[in-house]
Amino acid sequence: MASTVPAVPTKLVDVEVATTSRRTVPVVVLVATGPELGPGGDGIDVSDLTGKAGETVRHDEAWTLGVGTGTLADYRTAGASLVRALSGEDAPRTADVLLTPDLDAARMRAFVLGAALGGYRFKVTGEDAPKRVGSLRLVTGDTGFEEVLTSAALKAHALATATSLARDLANTPSNVKDPRWLSTTAARLADKVDGLSATVRDEKWLAQQGFGGVLAVGGGSARPPRLLELTYGTTGPHLVFVGKGITFDTGGISVKPADGMHLMRTDMAGGGAVIAALLAVARRQLPVRVTGLVPCAENHVGGAAYRPGDVVRHYGGATTEVQNTDAEGRMVLADALAYAVKNLKPDLLVDVATLTGAMKISLGLRTGGVFSSSDELAAEVVEAGAGVGEKWWRMPLLEEHVSAVASEIADYKQCPPGPGGITAALFLQKFTGDVPWAHLDIAGPARSEKVYDEVVAGATGFGARTLVELAEKYSR
Ligand code: BES
Ligand code: MN
Ligand code: ZN
Repeated sequence: MASTVPAVPTKLVDVEVATTSRRTVPVVVLVATGPELGPGGDGIDVSDLTGKAGETVRHDEAWTLGVGTGTLADYRTAGASLVRALSGEDAPRTADVLLTPDLDAARMRAFVLGAALGGYRFKVTGEDAPKRVGSLRLVTGDTGFEEVLTSAALKAHALATATSLARDLANTPSNVKDPRWLSTTAARLADKVDGLSATVRDEKWLAQQGFGGVLAVGGGSARPPRLLELTYGTTGPHLVFVGKGITFDTGGISVKPADGMHLMRTDMAGGGAVIAALLAVARRQLPVRVTGLVPCAENHVGGAAYRPGDVVRHYGGATTEVQNTDAEGRMVLADALAYAVKNLKPDLLVDVATLTGAMKISLGLRTGGVFSSSDELAAEVVEAGAGVGEKWWRMPLLEEHVSAVASEIADYKQCPPGPGGITAALFLQKFTGDVPWAHLDIAGPARSEKVYDEVVAGATGFGARTLVELAEKYSR
């Protein structure tokens, strides 16, 4: 029943930073490998502790939490494990975490990110959610750095909120999530944020404007396509983020095998990352201009579905020879990229998409692929990701495959032969003009089968934090 789908956005664990601890609140003592106990550890028996990152042990009065050797990944893991340990029947409402004096802003960010996201849960059920700690007080003691640490915690919580919303949108099942739901849910959230505005265009507008790629892909579904445009800011460089918003990907007439098809409800994860990033940038009132474009469509099988062999005219006039209706992501992105180049004067264009199974094979499930026409921009994406716990690896736009994007009967061939992730990127590049552009293929890391670090099984929200961090870099 639709009404049992969790309200979007779901609730995160709250975090506050203070110099002193509270009375009558459970206390969490940090343990580094050694084991070496942090503040508040007097009287705790260390004989059963290793201090390994994420090790949580309940003692009489207190909890201990392993922070390993204190790397950023250790702190993310520790924050996430703590919240998981403080869940279930006897979960306390709140707890005080006694930080160690070496805790700098970067570790604070990592810890808060882990704590806010580690307890993430999305379950469609009529039952009450299991209990989980509602908030944590992070106790710094009198270090004199309280202000820096507080702003680090706030930023990390904003990044976690973005990741969490991106997860919510992608986890929402496709019987609820269609192009209208995705675009109007984003617009409803955007309306509540100062300086952020949302426009949702329907299939009639798309037809008048010539969005042939979006209409072709959306044609097979009874739930018509939409274009979501989110706009923020008036000054500073203009960044345009484009996200693939396929609310379900059956493959269309080139239908996918049954095994694993259900996972294609997260095929709008790139669009979700863009929506979540725009909300975060606007909530933080960053001094930058950002536009988010999400072409939303359901790739389905039906009497009006597009066919292999069709020639589709994209926004702006370029044409594509369709070879496989399952390569729908590039069809909708091509329209949106062309629209951005023609109308938005971007200083920077970044698209994010669960685009190719080939990328999953190339880089696995924890690293995104970056393709860019600009060495500088590629490096900026990798660096932005590294700062917020998202790994990227640069992939080449191989020159020797460019000629294969040409078609005999149209301007471009949709699925040129050769390495799949790369040829998809080369196809997209045709629609980017001379704007500095990066294409982020997140087919691998957008979902996880496992719980690790701050990630839980299901949609990961991957990409949202990198986009926010990139906007932060370009701010002012
Ligand atoms: N959404 C898929 C890509 C995908 C696959 C994402 C697995 C996440 C996990 C995309 O629309 C697709 O079907 N791509 C095809 C392209 C091919 C037909 C050229 C692919 O990768 O097989
Ligand atoms: Mn597909
Ligand atoms: Zn797809």
